[in-house]
Amino acid sequence: MHNYAHLLDDYEDDDQPRYRKPRKKAAKAPVALADPEVGYQHEFRPTFPPDPTKHEYQWVVDYLKDFYNDQLIADVLHRVKGGKEANVYCCEAHPVTGVDLLAAKIYRPREFRSLRNDAVYRQGRRVLGGDGKRVKSDRELHAVAKGSSYGKRVAHTSWLAHEYETLQALYAAGADVPKPWAVGSNAILMEYLGEAGVAAPTLQETRLAQHEARPLLDRVIHNLDLMLQQGRVHGDLSAFNILYWESDIHLIDFPQVVDIRTNHEAWDIFYRDVERVCQYFDRYGVAPNAHRLATKLWRRYVPEDDFEKHNLLALAETMDEGED
Ligand SMILES: Nc1ncnc2c1ncn2[C@@H]1O[C@H](COP(=O)(O)OP(=O)(O)O)[C@@H](O)[C@H]1O
Ligand SMILES: [Mg+2]
Repeated sequence: MHNYAHLLDDYEDDDQPRYRKPRKKAAKAPVALADPEVGYQHEFRPTFPPDPTKHEYQWVVDYLKDFYNDQLIADVLHRVKGGKEANVYCCEAHPVTGVDLLAAKIYRPREFRSLRNDAVYRQGRRVLGGDGKRVKSDRELHAVAKGSSYGKRVAHTSWLAHEYETLQALYAAGADVPKPWAVGSNAILMEYLGEAGVAAPTLQETRLAQHEARPLLDRVIHNLDLMLQQGRVHGDLSAFNILYWESDIHLIDFPQVVDIRTNHEAWDIFYRDVERVCQYFDRYGVAPNAHRLATKLWRRYVPEDDFEKHNLLALAETMDEGED
C-alpha cells in the first residue's frame, strides 16, 4: 500500500498569498446595478477587511470584480480562512441572487498545488480550460507537459476548472457540497456555509454530540458512494475538508479529484480518503474497518478485474521503489 501522506505535507511554508498582477484583459464595462436604491458604487471597492495588506486588497478586487460586475456579490466582508492554496472570503450577495452571503475561493496564483507529486492527481485527467471544456490544442498540452510558465498557467486554470466542474456535477447529483454559483479567472463563487462573521467550522474543529456521530458518518459514506458512482475520488478528504453546519456535513475542496477510470492510483487515493474519515470517527467509537469499507464501496463500481489491476499496479510500483 502506498503512503501518500508525504504528498500532502509538502506545501510551501510561506503563508502569505503572493500577489501577481493578472495579465491585462480587455476591461469589462461595469454593469449598472439593477436597483439604484441599493446605493452601491459602480466601482468595486469592497469594505473588506479591517486591516488588509495592500496586495491582498488588490488581489481581492482583481479576482472578484467580475462577480461584482455580474451582480452576484455586493461586497466582500471578511476573510474566512487563508489556506496554503487558496483564501476564502465571505461576501455579501447581491440582492438579485436571493441569498444573503456567498463564499469566494480565490486561488493563490502560481504556487497553486505546490504538491511535490501533483502528477499523481493529474494522471489520466483531462486538461480543462477556463470555460470548463477540455483543452485540445497541442500547443497548450505541450506547454503543460513541458512545465513552462505558460504551461503552468494552463495547468493552474485546469485545477480550478476541475474543482468547479466537480462541484457542479456533485451538486446536481444531490451530494452534500456547497452550491456552485460562478467561476472566474482565478476564483470560484459558491454557497457560503455559516453566518456573517462565523463561518461553518470544519469537522476537525467540531466536537460532535455522541448521537450525531453515526448518522454523520453514514452521510459521509453516502457522499463517497455518490462520488464513486460518478467515477470520482475526492483525493484530499479528511475532517479538514468537511464542514459542519446546522447538524449536517458538507464536503469541500475538490481541485485534486481523480477519475477512477483513468488514474491507476485511484484505489490507493480512495483508500487513504476512507482511512482518514474512519480515523476521525474512531474518536466517537463508530468507525468501521477502513479497508473493509473502502473495498466494499469500491467493488460496487469497479469490476473485480480492474480492482486486481489497480492492486497489481500498486504492488509493482512498491516493488520498483524498493529496488531504488
Ligand atoms: N463554502 C464555504 N463556506 C464557508 N467556508 C468555506 C467554504 N469553502 C471553504 N471554506 C473555508 O475555507 C477553508 C479553505 O477552503 P478549501 O476549499 O478547503 O481550500 P484549501 O485548498 O486552501 O484547503 C476551509 O477549510 C473552510 O474553513
Ligand atoms: Mg482544504
